[in-house]
Amino acid sequence: MFFLLSSFICSWFTISFILIIYILLAKPGRFLLDLNPIYLRLPLPNIFNRNKKSFDAIKIEKDKIITPKSLALDPDDSNRLFIGSATGYVYCLQNNNVVETIASFPDGGRPLGIRLFHQKLYFIEANSGLYVYDLHKKSLTHLLKLDQTKFLDAKPSKFFDDLVIVEENDDIIVYITDVSRKFSIDMWCYTYLEPDSTGRILRYSTNNQSVTTILENLCFPNGIEITDNNESLLICELAKRRIIEFQLDGPEKGKCSVLMDNLPGEPENIRRSNNKTKESYWVGLALTRDYNGKLSFMDDYSAEPNLRKLILRSCFLLGTIMYNIGNCFGSETLQSKGSNLRTGIALILDDFMKNPGMAIEIDRESNVLFSFQIKDDISVISEIAETYDDENKHTRILYTTSSGGHLNRIILNE
Ligand SMILES: *[C@@H]1O[C@H](CO)[C@@H](O)[C@H](O)[C@H]1NC(C)=O
Ligand SMILES: *[C@@H]1O[C@H](CO)[C@@H](O)[C@H](O)[C@H]1NC(C)=O
Ligand SMILES: *[C@@H]1O[C@H](CO)[C@@H](O)[C@H](O)[C@H]1NC(C)=O
Repeated sequence: MFFLLSSFICSWFTISFILIIYILLAKPGRFLLDLNPIYLRLPLPNIFNRNKKSFDAIKIEKDKIITPKSLALDPDDSNRLFIGSATGYVYCLQNNNVVETIASFPDGGRPLGIRLFHQKLYFIEANSGLYVYDLHKKSLTHLLKLDQTKFLDAKPSKFFDDLVIVEENDDIIVYITDVSRKFSIDMWCYTYLEPDSTGRILRYSTNNQSVTTILENLCFPNGIEITDNNESLLICELAKRRIIEFQLDGPEKGKCSVLMDNLPGEPENIRRSNNKTKESYWVGLALTRDYNGKLSFMDDYSAEPNLRKLILRSCFLLGTIMYNIGNCFGSETLQSKGSNLRTGIALILDDFMKNPGMAIEIDRESNVLFSFQIKDDISVISEIAETYDDENKHTRILYTTSSGGHLNRIILNE
């Protein structure tokens, strides 16, 4: 009897051991993700949250605009803006009401980075690439497809996120954050948790449609902005919780440095504030720690790359099996639970519930000038766009987007 039991336990251990080794070491394939997690050092900062404020927000068009990531204000009309909804639409809003549909991608399209430049609306649709909409001619052009980048190094892009437009010698240049050549937007959790270091910055010339890589090996490059002197790009490297600066011009051309690291959350988009005299930027942070002492999955496992590989691969494997069984037997529960595991969202859903987003305003010397959260709102803050009140030019008015919530309008009273 004892012999039987011990041999049972022994074989159970052996099988588990073999399974773990297999999941860790086997070649990537249909059921095993291509992951090479790295050791990350992500200490929790403590300076940010001390004088953080909290503001009320008005939610705008919340039935139509679902989990918007980015928006563009019209510099000539403070009541007009353009925004992308996760339902696949790009809308024009006038006085906080949707008045026009600019573009639609009903098949799971995900409009992200949006910029208005010389009456043309440039934007990203995460699964297909870069577009421009001419507001006068009312025509849409697909400027750059994701797989058009495959000539660069044989690995086409899978997920563009944000962009910034710069005029350079009579050419209009679009700088794009190319998040990954491994995972599409549906699998962003793995890009974040591995983290995937196939991210890069692309430079697209609208004159001759040429594309070049100007910076690579980035871990989830998310938002991008140009500095006032047009000499450098500021880039949010989400998975490393830092903002880097890349010199486009000047004596240090081509150099990359860290502007700010150890952020209290994952930085999404970065946008110039509306302060003309002081060069400052608004940065949206996703999960902000130290809010209530609750650590996230990434905080727990940042220094454990092998354990992360095991968990991420197992999660995907189990999710894929569950999803397929659900599909076979028509079980919606199995399909949806399987899908949450397969995309990795199940691993971090709880983090999003516990850690609300935050907005910070920083200057060029990486000082934090302002930080706030939105009252009674636990969602991520993705982008902050600052405008003004026509009557009272000193009142700061912000629109915030959220890749997990709504479009908000906030009046800052310090
Ligand atoms: C930077 O470029 C923009 C156009 O992209 C231009 O309007 C602005 O004057 C430039 N700023 C400087 C300091 O050259
Ligand atoms: C396209 O234009 C850019 C300047 O914006 C230039 O650097 C590049 O060499 C041009 N490429 C081709 C193929 O002409
Ligand atoms: C711009 O920033 C400066 C320095 O932080 C501040 O004194 C000034 O009030 C700001 N102006 C506006 C319009 O916010």
